[in-house]
Amino acid sequence: MSVDKRALIAAARAASAGAYAPYSRFHVGAALGFADGTIITGANVENASYGLSLCAETVAVAAAMAAGRRGGLVAVAVLGGAPDGNGIAQVTGAALSPCGRCRQVLNELAQLGGTDPVIWSVGGDGVVEMALSALLPMAFGPSHLG
Ligand code: THU
Repeated sequence: MSVDKRALIAAARAASAGAYAPYSRFHVGAALGFADGTIITGANVENASYGLSLCAETVAVAAAMAAGRRGGLVAVAVLGGAPDGNGIAQVTGAALSPCGRCRQVLNELAQLGGTDPVIWSVGGDGVVEMALSALLPMAFGPSHLG
């Protein structure tokens, strides 16, 4: 089953309302699309000790893995911006691409299932589409240890 781009982006947008981002005031939503049609989302969770903050993509991967997912990741949508009155990110700037740590975290779930998910990075001018393998070439992953 292929993942519907508009639906996955809509899920990421809705997820951004759950962000806990009192320090940056930048709400991020991420949505993971699986081969069986399931969508699992996350939002950024900040911390008073700033460096301990968690990105939306990492929260989404943790939620997916805690729910038993060990592969099947075929698409990811991510977006961010200042929250509107409902906490939904208002996307205006450059397309939001996962940070380096999140690329590695996404790679763990992807490599477990042997997929190379497409990353839909949403920005004010549209959506940039890139494979995770292009964002994180020659990735280190579980296959190196087993
Ligand atoms: N953030 C994400 O959640 N995902 C990204 O891809 C980039 C940055 C969060 C971290 C922090 O809570 C806020 O955005 C500002 O950096």
